[in-house]
Amino acid sequence: MTGRATDLMMEAAVQAVERCRVLAGFTEEPGFITRTFLSAPMHDVHRCVRQWMESAGLQVRIDAAGNIRGRKGSRKSGCLYIGSHLDTVPRAGAYDGILGVVLGIGIAGLKVNLPIDIEVIGFSEEEGVRFGVPFPGSLALIGELQNDLLARRDAAGISVQDAIRNFGLDPSGIAAAVAKEDALGYFEVHIEQGPVLESLDLRLGVVESIIGQSRFQLTFQGQANHAGTTPMHLRHDALAGAAEWIAAVEREARMTEGLVATVGQCNAAPGAGNVIAGTVQTSLDVRHSNDRIRQSAADRLLQCAKQIAERRGLAVNWITRLEQPSVAMNPAWTDVLAGSVHAAGFSAHRMHSGAGHDAMIVARRMPTAMLFLRSPGGISHHPDESVRLEDVEAALAAGCAFVAKLGEQYA
Ligand code: GLV
Ligand code: MN
Ligand code: MN
Repeated sequence: MTGRATDLMMEAAVQAVERCRVLAGFTEEPGFITRTFLSAPMHDVHRCVRQWMESAGLQVRIDAAGNIRGRKGSRKSGCLYIGSHLDTVPRAGAYDGILGVVLGIGIAGLKVNLPIDIEVIGFSEEEGVRFGVPFPGSLALIGELQNDLLARRDAAGISVQDAIRNFGLDPSGIAAAVAKEDALGYFEVHIEQGPVLESLDLRLGVVESIIGQSRFQLTFQGQANHAGTTPMHLRHDALAGAAEWIAAVEREARMTEGLVATVGQCNAAPGAGNVIAGTVQTSLDVRHSNDRIRQSAADRLLQCAKQIAERRGLAVNWITRLEQPSVAMNPAWTDVLAGSVHAAGFSAHRMHSGAGHDAMIVARRMPTAMLFLRSPGGISHHPDESVRLEDVEAALAAGCAFVAKLGEQYA
């Protein structure tokens, strides 16, 4: 790169990080970053993202699934989609998803006179926090946002359809969110959210596949009763049963190489210190790069819940929230991306993603490639999540090189 190009890249990197910090200010929970699907602060996010997209020369719209989309070009040789998500987990960091969207805008702003169109997408929801099911935004892009998901309700009883209406959008327009026939493919830049790149002292990684995940919601049902009068041997304590099972989940997962299993949510009711818990609702998240191993581990963990419940005189039932197989990125695009990372002057470490991404949904419909950048301390889904400026600059340089190569290829 020339000196001027290097300066531009660094300016764009600084701007991208500043923009992530601006969006971090829009939250449902003061003092933290919490921004679920179609929540009120998403209006503020859209206002800023719209302005940034427009100043990068993009024509902006918000589709019926709440995805903000900015397009540049005049339907020349097809369209490259670049994006990530704008929602967050509760008490999140500032970069998960968000960085990929602002870098998409940065790349679109830097790349002029491309022979292909670029559409930058800020997906409305990837994490699955509000409705218990992830990816509605990217499902809408590939035409797979089904009615059963639209009918799902959040904890306040509001359906996805009503949330869309309350946000000022029209759910009957979902079909118009689908990517047009001219889609060439999808490119996502994301923080690694793990320690691998840092341990190798590398700035960038090229994702070869995203590992599969199963998510469940379990309910342990016992008998709420008085904490002072009910002898221990006559209790049906749903929380003690759930706790025994949670410890078993951790033990089982540790015994299988590469398996990760997490109970990240546990709500006991009625929820008072002097009342034995009658009902406990928990989540279960199971992941492995081998789908067969993941599925059989999930079956074992669910059967284990059943055995523990039976022994303790409890009932347990579960609902499957997600059954998402591992997804390979497009090999040819991944090679082009690795070449672009090299051309930008960096090593292209090839790796799996343990986190789920919109890329794993969009890959069903079009060639998809994904670039990772180092996560300091391997920390993510936490307020301490961070990025290094030089890694953001490297991601921009590699991303611009990738888009330029695709432009040549599809001109
Ligand atoms: C998304 O962050 C996931 O749960 O992998
Ligand atoms: Mn996340
Ligand atoms: Mn993410």
